[in-house]
Amino acid sequence: MRAILCKSHGPPENLVLEEIPAPIAADNEAVVEVYAASLNFPDGLQIQGKYQFQPPMPFTPGSEVGGVIKSVGAGLTGFAEGDRVMATPGIGGLAEKVVVKADGLRKIPDRMDFRTAAGFAMIYTTSYYALKQRANLQPGETLLVLGASGGVGLAAVELGKLMGARVIAAASSDEKLKFVNRLQPDALINYGDGELKEKVKALTNDRGADVIYDPVGGDLFDQCCRCINWNGRLLVIGFTSGRIPEYKANLALLKGSSMVGVFLGRFRKEEPQQYEKNFQELLSMYEQGKLRPIVTESFPMEDFVAAFNVFTERRVMGKVTLEIKAE
Ligand SMILES: NC(=O)c1ccc[n+]([C@@H]2O[C@H](COP(=O)([O-])OP(=O)(O)OC[C@H]3O[C@@H](n4cnc5c(N)ncnc54)[C@H](OP(=O)(O)O)[C@@H]3O)[C@@H](O)[C@H]2O)c1
Repeated sequence: MRAILCKSHGPPENLVLEEIPAPIAADNEAVVEVYAASLNFPDGLQIQGKYQFQPPMPFTPGSEVGGVIKSVGAGLTGFAEGDRVMATPGIGGLAEKVVVKADGLRKIPDRMDFRTAAGFAMIYTTSYYALKQRANLQPGETLLVLGASGGVGLAAVELGKLMGARVIAAASSDEKLKFVNRLQPDALINYGDGELKEKVKALTNDRGADVIYDPVGGDLFDQCCRCINWNGRLLVIGFTSGRIPEYKANLALLKGSSMVGVFLGRFRKEEPQQYEKNFQELLSMYEQGKLRPIVTESFPMEDFVAAFNVFTERRVMGKVTLEIKAE
């Protein structure tokens, strides 16, 4: 089968597309024929050797796919050859076939296409866990979302609105904000000039946001610590800016605010039942037409460099997928 391989850490141009042996399902696993694979920011870090979890070399990147089960290993129940699934193998998704453990398989609704299936799990489960369990976001509270046009940011805007919050979507350009505006956030902030704090205060009667969803870190995080409301929760999602910031204890004291860590992978391991409940709630929201996942760019498998560079060049608006097999 064909697979995209990382043989040396570096830019997307270092990746190669090669023939490798197809995987075989072990106990409680299935082999999924991949139709579409989604890319996420961490994939770009992983191929550069900059992510906190690095697989041994060589490896095939790609943590989530949409496809059809080709074979099942011994002991796997509830799934059969031919099932249409979304799958989270964790690694190995940018290939024609990938092996997936039982807990990474979910059947998809008939009307969900494979590219939507590929881009669903990571962004929605992260943002739902962050807003529901970590922030305990309440109707009427003000939610500020940074990086609002990106994968997890867009999902946070959509879920925030569904949960009844007043959502302020913030991004670095008017083009990105115009894109996010289709989800009808209550207000928009362009922080492309580096200024965030005063703009948030102006929109919140000087009080600041109740919940801040921050996948960016760096200087914007520093400003978030100063435009958060009394009892506010600052959600630490990631550091796409490249700098891990520090939280000033005096600001927490003065504002009664908290910095709250969000780590989906650990949540999934520590609280598998809550994770699954969240997932089923999200699928049900999709089936009811409440969630509208937006895949904006789908590249042919051969154009993997261009697909990765959407992330490395900070151009993401919505989800980006690779098309591995035509539907
Ligand atoms: N904690 C968890 O469990 C968890 C789970 C999933 C993902 N994450 C993390 O969440 C972050 C976002 O992931 P994603 O897949 O949603 O990424 P994405 O689609 O690329 O979106 C990231 C956003 O970050 C902003 N950004 C600011 N500075 C940037 C820079 N120098 N380069 C690139 N983007 C920059 C961009 O918006 P602007 O240009 O508008 O600023 C962009 O929309 C990553 O750090 C990822 O590791 C964490």
